[in-house]
Amino acid sequence: MDHFLYQQDELHAEQCAVAELANTYGTPLYIYSRATLERHWHAFDNAVADHPHMICYAVKANSNLAVLNVLARLGSGFDIVSGGELARVLEAGGEASKVVFSGVGKTVAEMEMALEAGIYCFNVESAAELEQLNEVALRLGKVAPVSLRVNPDVDAGTHPYISTGLKENKFGIAMEEAEAIFLRANTLAGLAVKGADCHIGSQLTELQPFLDAMDRMLALIDRLAEQGVKIAHLDVGGGLGVTYDGEQPPEPSAYASALLAKLAGRDLKLIFEPGRAIAANAGIFVTQVLYLKENADKNFALVDGAMNDLIRPSLYSAWQKIIPVVPRPGETRHYDVVGPVCETGDFLGKDRALNIAANDLLAVRSSGAYGFTMASNYNSRPRAAEVMVDGDRHYLVREREKIAQLWQGEQLLP
Ligand code: LLP
Repeated sequence: MDHFLYQQDELHAEQCAVAELANTYGTPLYIYSRATLERHWHAFDNAVADHPHMICYAVKANSNLAVLNVLARLGSGFDIVSGGELARVLEAGGEASKVVFSGVGKTVAEMEMALEAGIYCFNVESAAELEQLNEVALRLGKVAPVSLRVNPDVDAGTHPYISTGLKENKFGIAMEEAEAIFLRANTLAGLAVKGADCHIGSQLTELQPFLDAMDRMLALIDRLAEQGVKIAHLDVGGGLGVTYDGEQPPEPSAYASALLAKLAGRDLKLIFEPGRAIAANAGIFVTQVLYLKENADKNFALVDGAMNDLIRPSLYSAWQKIIPVVPRPGETRHYDVVGPVCETGDFLGKDRALNIAANDLLAVRSSGAYGFTMASNYNSRPRAAEVMVDGDRHYLVREREKIAQLWQGEQLLP
């Protein structure tokens, strides 16, 4: 459930008319709904109820400071993958003590930054990273809390670019090597072993792969216990899917209760790293039709938003629903909704039944996750503005990039 609904035949974001927001802030425009973000976060938090847990929102999905701040106010933790994300979390009022640091290639500078900040845990992805972190921690006179990201080798059945839990992926430590590396970690003075983690992929719409991964992780945790390595938390990563086009992913409550059933009788804190499930359907991307172009075989709606603003359709052939902000009665035609970027792959949707005219506004739904955060300046296009609505109020949470910002930091030769 989200808060982007038609009221009096006009799309609204909570109580704000989307057409008015587009008029006020211009297009292309990202619009986020505070109520939806909060609802989704609470869905996870309530689902785990009184079992010790932490919901660490995956910052990469949407790292706008206002989004992070709304979640921080709920008491959220954060899953980060860079020093930049850590800085954003802190800037937004998030607590370092609720941050888990994922990522296959943490630099020494990032390790230092996270140790100084006092994060909850480093999710270490290789033996080499473990040694590096130990060195950095010893040099700073600190003890780094660590978890090892184990690759449980389950097929999450998602798009190959976003599946991460298979042996052939670059992520995590192979299950066969995990025990030895945990034992090694346990001997290093700069490290304190706290947890084990996995993340098997994104946009999962079935429970089974999560449950398979959990079984393998619990078996590992038991083997470690026999060897004197105590694991205090299990971080199951993110990955719960959302509805883009009729998919019926499990609700967070069903997901959590299936996991909790397996945890019965264990003293194991549970950590979730949801990104998409919190942010995707809490945002829309609004774009205006510039021109309609019709030829013998195809109709094109040329819009002012493009792959540089929202790359998921181009990069993953992702399907996101495109709806008119103010629907017109009457016949629809099939359009490819394409942007101005000079690439054939620049499209937001193909073959969409729409009844539209130039200047109409379209909303691409489910754009709150991996939308703005993946935007670029390709074709020297300034990045879109971002707005957050809260009931009948709306706030500009990132201004539209200005042309002169495009070459900020660039220099001419003398
Ligand atoms: N934790 C780790 C370690 C991750 O790698 C990811 C996502 C998450 C949590 C959050 O996963 P989520 O709950 O959002 O599925 N750009 C792609 C998605 C890439 C996901 C990368 N890792 C897309 O637009 O579909």
